[in-house]
Amino acid sequence: MSKLVINGGRRLEGELTPHGAKNSALPLLAATVLSSSPVILDRLPMLTDVEASVAILTHLGCTVHRDGNSVEVIPSAECANSIPEHLMREMRSSIVFLGAVLAKAGSARLCFPGGCELGPRPIDLHLQALRQMGAEIREDGCALHCAAPKGLHGARIALSFPSVGATENVLLAAVLAKGQTVLSNAAKEPEIIDLCTFLNACGARICGAGESVLYIEGVERLIGCRYSVMPDRIEAATFLAAAAVTAGDITLHGLKPSHMTAVLSVFEEAGCTLHIRENSVRLKAPARLSRVGLIRTMPYPGFPTDAQAPIMAMTAVASGTSVIIENIFDSRYKHVCELVRMGANIKTEGRMAVVEGVPCLHGASVCCTDLRGGAALLVAGIAAQGVTQIGRLCHLDRGYAYPEKLLTQLGADIKRIN
Ligand code: EPZ
Repeated sequence: MSKLVINGGRRLEGELTPHGAKNSALPLLAATVLSSSPVILDRLPMLTDVEASVAILTHLGCTVHRDGNSVEVIPSAECANSIPEHLMREMRSSIVFLGAVLAKAGSARLCFPGGCELGPRPIDLHLQALRQMGAEIREDGCALHCAAPKGLHGARIALSFPSVGATENVLLAAVLAKGQTVLSNAAKEPEIIDLCTFLNACGARICGAGESVLYIEGVERLIGCRYSVMPDRIEAATFLAAAAVTAGDITLHGLKPSHMTAVLSVFEEAGCTLHIRENSVRLKAPARLSRVGLIRTMPYPGFPTDAQAPIMAMTAVASGTSVIIENIFDSRYKHVCELVRMGANIKTEGRMAVVEGVPCLHGASVCCTDLRGGAALLVAGIAAQGVTQIGRLCHLDRGYAYPEKLLTQLGADIKRIN
């Protein structure tokens, strides 16, 4: 079992370039199934979730060649229509293969997906939308049997919540469907825009990416292209939080600050000075951070739920009281008890967390409770006096590619021990 061992309290300084975004890479990999010719994806992060997607693609009959951060996917004309349970359970986003496999193979047999335990994570919106497009779906225990005997057709679909995954599934199912699909209350996350841009580069006809209504005109076939995954805005926010807790001064390159407006304004509220350019952000933190009044997680362009945990770790050492309201997931405060073990003063009730900033945290032996909870422990360990050992790295490794290497580059004292 691996552990990260952090000797905290070192000031972070320097420059780095975040990886490609996990939450974009995964649907892009699923989308490659739809292409009739090879696709090359660049800036693909080295994550266990990416490996799981590659394993699913291989199972479906695609040939995948990996070269560092690039992969070439050669889709097969005959796409398998089932995904084994162990691969589905590896991660939540295995569910985006449903729309792609159904569109390509005409049927799909899979089970409900796994992923971080953040409370109930139903897929009713995905299934309802696919049914509207002509899919017949039978749920049998934990198995899903889906078929589109007459092929999928366009439909007018209104999501009751702008679900990221449901929007992705509709896009993947609709690009090759007969006729036009109009999706209202679609998710507007940058990762959705990335998926639409990629699909359009392959010959799809999607309009409205980044707005709440998407218009998708089905086409006969998609052809491969070479595409670079967008930068990871959540990984970037995590590194900025790590610098902020050490009174640090770091510059992140190769990212899109326009995707991070809600998060960047929290750093400013905490007293950091930001120099924002089109593709870079420099953060200079004060000796002591200030409280941030109220953070409410919301669908994009609101404050992202995925940044809630690492930013909470930052507020844990700010002066004064910060309040966080988690609106997206029912149970996304599991990291709080680990932060408390490190000396944080945080109380939660339902969706609300009240963080009384303390002058400093102390090192402790803690465990990742989920992916972003693990990121909170990284930030806390870097801020803390003394040695922090972080276990259960399987969660962190799903979304952060060797964070110890990048943080060492910035001056942190952090090692992975196997
Ligand atoms: C995506 O999950 C991300 N995952 C999550 O990132 C992210 O937290 C989330 O979007 C919100 O931004 C990937 O992109 C792989 P949703 P997803 O469907 O698609 C409810 C991380 O840490 N809902 O927008 O699962 C659902 O229960 C991860 O990187 C339904 O009720 O998110 C939740 O409360 C974790 N029915 C809310 O909507 C449905 O059919 C948001 O879910 C679908 C969702």
